[in-house]
Amino acid sequence: MRISKRIREIEKMIPTESIVADIGCDHAYLDVLAVKNKRALKSYACEVAVGPLERAKNTIQLYHCEDQVIPILSNGLERVPNDANVCVIAGMGFETMRTILNDHDLSQFSMMILQPNCDVDLLRRWLIEHDWFITDEKMVHEGHYYTILAAMKGNDEYSEEDYVFGKFLHDETFKKYWMFRKERIEQILPQLNDEKLIKEFSHLLQMIENKL
Ligand SMILES: C[S@@+](CC[C@H](N)C(=O)[O-])C[C@H]1O[C@@H](n2cnc3c(N)ncnc32)[C@H](O)[C@@H]1O
Repeated sequence: MRISKRIREIEKMIPTESIVADIGCDHAYLDVLAVKNKRALKSYACEVAVGPLERAKNTIQLYHCEDQVIPILSNGLERVPNDANVCVIAGMGFETMRTILNDHDLSQFSMMILQPNCDVDLLRRWLIEHDWFITDEKMVHEGHYYTILAAMKGNDEYSEEDYVFGKFLHDETFKKYWMFRKERIEQILPQLNDEKLIKEFSHLLQMIENKL
């Protein structure tokens, strides 16, 4: 099984003896890896679409995980069994993720591990505003830059800078990402005409320069 660095890093954030609900599991590599590594006792591989769920079933059979990885056709958390205590949602846009999180009661989960494909700042804001305390973050570079967040119930205070950069990321990957963003903004800024956009991008550029 060729598993991406991104999936491996997500899996490492799962606490041992968890019962995972992997929402939007697609191929279910994460679920299989988590039970094979004995990190998860069980994993519910949840998918809204039939094609990806079939892919998940094939992976589960191939790696003989039928007793521990249970495929479920589910829109978001709709059909997640009550014993799941860790929710993973990865590899989708923030808007889809927000719909899933807003539409369901999350009280059964002691932890959520989330990796949106974009708008990480908006996800941080959503978590803090909904009384989730961000406990860890990891940034992975694999073609794109991906941020993975772990959160538990609790309160925290975030400044505007914290929402943009997070509180946990300081490594080389993080620095390279923000250098890359800085260069992109410097390229597009002279081409903009919209005053509001110019103001927003200039402000972000200033924040990045202060941070780096
Ligand atoms: C790009 S894949 C990501 C797969 C895997 N989680 C990963 O990180 O590699 C996104 C998957 O989410 C599924 N999905 C999208 N919206 C969903 C929803 N509301 N409920 C469950 N699955 C959903 C899609 O069908 C697709 O298979």
